[in-house]
Amino acid sequence: MNHLIAPSILAADFANLQRDLEMINTSDADWVHVDIMDGMFVPNISFGFPVVSATKKHATKPLDVHLMIVEPDRYLKAFKDAGADGLTVHYEACPHLHRTIQAIKELGCRAGVALNPHTPVALLDDIIADLDMVLIMSVNPGFGGQKFIQNTYKKLNDIKELSQRKNPGLLIEVDGGVDQSNVEKLLQAGANVLVAGNSVFSSANQLAAISNLKYPEKLLQS
Ligand code: DX5
Ligand code: ZN
Repeated sequence: MNHLIAPSILAADFANLQRDLEMINTSDADWVHVDIMDGMFVPNISFGFPVVSATKKHATKPLDVHLMIVEPDRYLKAFKDAGADGLTVHYEACPHLHRTIQAIKELGCRAGVALNPHTPVALLDDIIADLDMVLIMSVNPGFGGQKFIQNTYKKLNDIKELSQRKNPGLLIEVDGGVDQSNVEKLLQAGANVLVAGNSVFSSANQLAAISNLKYPEKLLQS
């Protein structure tokens, strides 16, 4: 399959969110990545339902909502109602992950599970067949603009191998420190959805930065 690009609006200009979403609408991006942080699961707080609803109003592409929150089950429906198309919960935040995944699917959303950098892929062995997507964190969740963790490549190889055995249609998303310099290696290792915050929004040419992630073989000035 062709890989997907999901710019993360955590790095957008919140005073000009509509403008930044319109840029994404006209770009080669496939989804809009929406990071929800609660100050509990991660040390940072991002934004909540009103911002997700406003994002939905102006985005023409599906919202890929990444929940970095404790007890996500309490809020799944509210995020769906705010406009989420996909909901990703953290393995580390879900003691009853199977039930949480079923709840996401019952809402009609794409169901994803995110793994922190220290969480082994093997822990997904008994749930992988139920998932639409696995998100491999390539930084510690909580902040944009962090340094990419090299062990991510090994984890991508692991999840690719597991998906080939048990769920060949699995989406494999990588999130954190993704830019022009590592995109090809990430795709080779098994990623097929790339999240990018800083490398897109800090670029002088944001449309070109997105195109360079989507079509790394034809590099543009970004
Ligand atoms: C980090 C978030 C990421 C973040 C990525 O906790 O999950 O989605 O926006 O930002 P960059 O691409 O700047 O590392
Ligand atoms: Zn994210």
